Amino acid sequence: MEQTHQNIQTWYKEHGRLELPWRNTKDPYHIYISEVMLQQTQVKTVLERYYFPFLEKFPTLKVLGEAPLDKILKIWEGLGYYNRAKNLHKTATLVEELPQDMEELINLPGIGKNTAHAVAAFAFRQAVPVMEANVRRILCRLHQLQAPREKDLWQIAYGMVDKENPFEYNQAMMDIGATICLPQNPKCETCPLSTVCQGQNNPALYPAKKKRVVPIRKQNIMIYIYDDKFSLTQRKGKFLHGLWGFETVETPLCTAEYLGEVSHAYTHFKLLCKIYAYYEMEPEQMSYFSTEEIKKLAISKVDEKIVKLFKDQSI
Ligand code: ADE
Repeated sequence: MEQTHQNIQTWYKEHGRLELPWRNTKDPYHIYISEVMLQQTQVKTVLERYYFPFLEKFPTLKVLGEAPLDKILKIWEGLGYYNRAKNLHKTATLVEELPQDMEELINLPGIGKNTAHAVAAFAFRQAVPVMEANVRRILCRLHQLQAPREKDLWQIAYGMVDKENPFEYNQAMMDIGATICLPQNPKCETCPLSTVCQGQNNPALYPAKKKRVVPIRKQNIMIYIYDDKFSLTQRKGKFLHGLWGFETVETPLCTAEYLGEVSHAYTHFKLLCKIYAYYEMEPEQMSYFSTEEIKKLAISKVDEKIVKLFKDQSI
């Protein structure tokens, strides 16, 4: 194992993404924010559009806890999985600083086992492994595992972590997964793990691909328009809670104008919306916003697409 650790360290120094800002800070809060953003979003997007503006607006856990949720959702707009933003806010109201203890970390809202390990390893330099999708793929290939149990993967990961240099080891494993041990056409010939990897003769077999059928959810959306302003309400249900959006209706009014379709792919389903516009003679809804005012609200990707559809049709 010592030689493998050495190979990983050498590779990381030469090829690792050493310049990523969350790898060059000791502030646990900054690292925590990056890990939550990176849970479901690519490095490039987090780096270019979200990490710095978020920290500029909410530089400490205390500032975040005192901020209204609306402001946090606004900065989060477009990043998706808005529960992440709500859980960050909740955590910030619960603790003054992030705990170092793994169990305490896992008990905080929005911090699962993976994120707790990442925060412990990167913010508190603990000798624990991280396990995101890329690392999972590496471990499966190393040991020719097609459908391992979570428990077994963690056991392997704990057995493999470099206790001398856990920070670099873990960051390197993520980089190897992101740049070498790719889902398709992995670059085994340049991999620092090639001397110990059992899967390199047929990497596509590990892990076995899950066949997923994504259900389609259909909705009718009504844009109520009065005096060149649009009715939006703040969502109350579980789905996109807290964001502003257009009204969903069972049956569109027969005098409404059909504008077209908008779709958006979420992780567990695809949303397909038929969009209708209805011009009101007097205001019958709760609140109306101009297009300029809508820009200041936190709205979902779907509602953004709906605004665009409307604008494209009015030209
Ligand atoms: N994904 C999750 N954590 C990460 C990190 N620290 N660096 C790059 N990608 C990541």
